[in-house]
Amino acid sequence: MPATDTTRGPAGTAVLPALRFENVVKRFGDHTVLDGLNFEVAKGERVTLIGPSGSGKTTILRLVMTLEHLTDGFIYVDGDPLTHELRGGRRVERRPKDVARLTTKIGMVFQQFNLFPNMTVLENITEAPVHVLGRSKGEAERRARELLDQVGLADKAHAHPTRLSGGQQQRVAIARALAMDPEILLLDEVTSALDPELVGEVLGVLRDVARSTDITMLIVTHEMQFAAEVSDRVLMFDQGRIVEDAPPGVMFSDPGEERTQAFLQAVL
Ligand SMILES: Nc1ncnc2c1ncn2[C@@H]1O[C@H](COP(=O)(O)OP(=O)(O)OP(=O)(O)O)[C@@H](O)[C@H]1O
Ligand SMILES: [Mg+2]
Repeated sequence: MPATDTTRGPAGTAVLPALRFENVVKRFGDHTVLDGLNFEVAKGERVTLIGPSGSGKTTILRLVMTLEHLTDGFIYVDGDPLTHELRGGRRVERRPKDVARLTTKIGMVFQQFNLFPNMTVLENITEAPVHVLGRSKGEAERRARELLDQVGLADKAHAHPTRLSGGQQQRVAIARALAMDPEILLLDEVTSALDPELVGEVLGVLRDVARSTDITMLIVTHEMQFAAEVSDRVLMFDQGRIVEDAPPGVMFSDPGEERTQAFLQAVL
């Protein structure tokens, strides 16, 4: 079911979607991964992407994070074109300065944590708020300690990431993303690299983030129970296309498409 273009804000004003893909094409060489993809995510909405390996889920998140170059089409953040815009009827790249202004609204947590190994936990979390947002060191550290408390790692501020378990490292990575006050949080299989007994602590932190903030979330996960709990909508992908778009209650118990049924049967 296609989402509507805009929803209504409190004062009856139009609220633009947090994220909109318009005819997005992504090719790697002559391999077309996304072929005219259209979807949107409303402000505050939690959307989970599911689908087989290679269907383009990570590519979608990396395009939003501007870690991949968009082959064609447009991505809008809060109605603002992210990397390309139409000017005088031509599709042109936006200036790096404009792109950077939008990407500071977006945070991402990766499967492999990607912490800076040569920095302490506290330095990992304060680096971007200080250097990108221009916050004072004191202010950034205060916020970092609050976040470390929230993710249950108040006592690890001065530890180096290599001394932490995978679950602890991933909780630091979540705190680091939140320290930038993102409007949109992208989560790419954040528990897939963890030993099974560490998955729960990371999902617990994310449930708490989902409950206690109104951050828009775009999630790729194989943790279907978690997806069912936190998602407003689930999109089933196959070969770079949306096969089905449904609330979790429908997607996980009564999917309409055979492709979804087969996929869920294989993973559940
Ligand atoms: N840098 C790259 N160069 C060439 N091909 C790529 C690159 N990144 C991704 N691809 C290809 O794009 C397709 C989609 O990959 P993507 O990583 O988005 O899939 P995915 O749905 O995240 O899969 P998985 O569930 O395994 O993580 C795959 O066929 C992949 O091989
Ligand atoms: Mg992936």
